[in-house]
Amino acid sequence: MHQSIEQLYNEFEHEIKTIASTNDLETLKVKYLGKKGPIQNIMKELKDVPPEQRPEFGKCVNDLKEDISKKIDEKQNILVQSEENQQLLSEKIDITLPGRRRFIGRKHVINQVMDEMIEILIELGFSVQYGPDIDTDYYNFGALNFAPDHPARDMQDTFYIEPGVLLRTHTSNIQARIMESSKPPIRIIAPGKVYRNETITARSHVFFHQIEAVYIDKNVSFADLRATLDQFFKKLFQCDVETRYRPSYFPFVEPGMEVDMRCLNCVGNGCQLCKHTGWLEIAGAGMIHPEVLKNGDIDPEEFSGYAWGLGIERLTLLKYGIKDIRLFTENDIRFLKQFSGQ
Ligand code: FA5
Repeated sequence: MHQSIEQLYNEFEHEIKTIASTNDLETLKVKYLGKKGPIQNIMKELKDVPPEQRPEFGKCVNDLKEDISKKIDEKQNILVQSEENQQLLSEKIDITLPGRRRFIGRKHVINQVMDEMIEILIELGFSVQYGPDIDTDYYNFGALNFAPDHPARDMQDTFYIEPGVLLRTHTSNIQARIMESSKPPIRIIAPGKVYRNETITARSHVFFHQIEAVYIDKNVSFADLRATLDQFFKKLFQCDVETRYRPSYFPFVEPGMEVDMRCLNCVGNGCQLCKHTGWLEIAGAGMIHPEVLKNGDIDPEEFSGYAWGLGIERLTLLKYGIKDIRLFTENDIRFLKQFSGQ
């Protein structure tokens, strides 16, 4: 019997040497000291041992149990220490390493250009007003002299939220509001987002930005409009840019114009961006229609005014030689990173 105790101890000693983790040690402890372990089995044999040998046998088994427990405790201390050391090693910080660069976001190129435009127009004497993106049919169309059956009011061109409420299709929705709240002289710009239910192409999107300008005073003329726009373009592009004014129809101006700029992408030779015409339409403009002034409670006999609405994406395409308007909304970091200004 002594022999089997000795053999068991030897086996235990051999096994504990191979243990390298506290988890495995726990398994070994259960194996030897657990209820179904060999020591319990030996204890069960006690009743078969002759009475005179029982005390010694019992002592041997108890010694074995104590020795195994002691060895396990010692090993436990060693393993805990070494696991803690390993954890500390894995968590150690090398304070001499260079810091990780944090990614700093930048202002979107459209916002950069919009801010630049606002700054120039403030220098030219305009103050800034903001109109709502979600507006009523009245401010977007009705007050601007659009007939009830004008095609722009159609669902195919305009995103309606509910009958009579829509995503504004242009920043001209500021016009009636500003006339309701102020009296001439009025000289404001209104930058913002606009939305149209249109086919997306290299030059047109369903979501873009405009800057509206409204100037109403005594004797405001078309010459004032042209001079201000020319001055504005010169400051924005920092050179003389070629523009042309084509007669066009907008219900809220008379006469109405479309302003084109020489395509800087192909220098007028023709490309996909300018539809091979050499020109890119960048703004609608004109003298404010007397009916619109009347809707705003301004006497058209006493006052006149001009208004224009510039497409910011189109001007940004020209300013930076970008070939496709879709790049502005695709969130491709490689594209956006090129415009490093804040
Ligand atoms: C208007 O939106 C008028 N409200 C402008 C106006 C204001 C006229 C005041 C007279 C007086 P138009 O639809 O042409 O006009 O748009 C003006 C400019 O916005 C265009 O010249 C173009 O630069 C830009 N634009 C128009 N549609 C799109 C589009 N789908 N994607 C990108 N830019 C566009």
